Amino acid sequence: MSYKLTDQTAQLSINGSIYTLPIIEGTMGDRAIDISNLLQESGYITLDSGYKNTGSCTSTITYLDGNKGILRYRGYEIEELADNCSFVEVAYLLLHDGLPNVSELESFKGLIERFALIHEDMIHFFDHFPSHASPMSILSVMVNSLVNYYPELSDDPMDDIDITSTRLLSKIRTIAAFSYKKSMGHPLVYPRNDLSYCGNFLNMMFDKPVKPYVVRPEVVATLNKLLILHADHEQNCSTSTVRLVGSAGVNLYAAISAGITALWGPLHGGANEAVVDMLETIYADDCNFEKYISKAKDRNDPFRLSGFGHRVYKTYDPRGKIIKKACDEILNVLEVSDPLLDLAYQLEEIVLKDEYFVERNLYPNVDFYSGIIYRAIGIPTNMFTVMFALGRLPGWISQWKEMHGDPATRIGRPRQVYLGEKPRDFIPLEERE
Ligand code: CMC
Repeated sequence: MSYKLTDQTAQLSINGSIYTLPIIEGTMGDRAIDISNLLQESGYITLDSGYKNTGSCTSTITYLDGNKGILRYRGYEIEELADNCSFVEVAYLLLHDGLPNVSELESFKGLIERFALIHEDMIHFFDHFPSHASPMSILSVMVNSLVNYYPELSDDPMDDIDITSTRLLSKIRTIAAFSYKKSMGHPLVYPRNDLSYCGNFLNMMFDKPVKPYVVRPEVVATLNKLLILHADHEQNCSTSTVRLVGSAGVNLYAAISAGITALWGPLHGGANEAVVDMLETIYADDCNFEKYISKAKDRNDPFRLSGFGHRVYKTYDPRGKIIKKACDEILNVLEVSDPLLDLAYQLEEIVLKDEYFVERNLYPNVDFYSGIIYRAIGIPTNMFTVMFALGRLPGWISQWKEMHGDPATRIGRPRQVYLGEKPRDFIPLEERE
């Protein structure tokens, strides 16, 4: 990918030797020191645990400004996309670099509809998971298995990318809903192409022979919004995983499966489930906020307030703001009164005034209110992170696609500073004490 080299350089002085490093500039003025030749020239690597200060790639997909709370997909403000688009439109935007016109959207939807079923043989897989199996593990396994049923047709994965990506976008819904139905012991509900992307998913989840599900437009609109808000977030943990695994040359399904696994963690996508567990615990403990806030501040206690803090945002997460409003609206429409929502409001108010959280710029993130919406529309807690995966999928695919199209791509392979033993003599087994 070509980028603008500035006329500025950085000088690095190591033991009297000066190394001149190029500075590159992104579209929005963000600057980076290019250290890619530093090892070769100086013998030194850089060390940055957790990649707090390391750019792993250049990208044209998502822009985020963590200090101002700005998030844009392909230049469009997240607030405008969330208010005016369907999730499928946003998926197209991420995958194709621009919003679709009417006929482009129709043919994209046509592909998604065409691929909605999963091979009937795959349905047997669900029978062999225990009923309490995590839907995230099932999702990861099933997505990984897709390659056996839908192999790429050519050696160049980019040849089939439109087919493979719409296949994934469509089938992930069916897999997620089927895993829920199987866990409940209910008959499967097959996809219906007369319904929208989100309507179809909700119907597969909740329709029953004894009680047909009524797809409410307000619920569909809220789900669209949630999925849009999750659709991409540049080089987060799961996306970096998709890129890293993908850089080894594996097929797209395998790379996405790895991304799903990374997302599962409670510090990442798993936080939406952890938030509701945390709120339930606080509720059951007589709303003892003080106790849990003290635990979160205690360095010797691993407990953290789930749904607060972010590696990049040092202000309110713009997605969190939109979700908080959507949460209030949909609970009103559905006439659901959830005590956890009031609890969440109170917790947020206390945290935003607390010196510990203020000093560290810890604000509610995308996961703080999303679980309360999912609860209200009937999604079980252990499927919250699956919902995040459904939303993030177009982002993962577009990042994978971008990486494969970028001539600068190399296999991802960080270095390390070895702190282990110096060479020592080998002792045969019988002589070891
Ligand atoms: N509760 C209490 N303390 C916190 C929290 C929290 N939620 N988050 C950060 N801190 C403290 C942390 O202990 C550290 O304090 P100190 O400087 O005294 O050591 C300081 O704030 C900086 O935290 P960090 O862990 O160095 O920051 P990070 O950028 O490595 O971690 C994070 C970011 C999101 C993993 C972290 O804020 C966290 O664990 N939050 C809770 C889990 C969560 O909500 N995750 C979802 C993130 S948004 C969606 C997504 O990415 O999927």
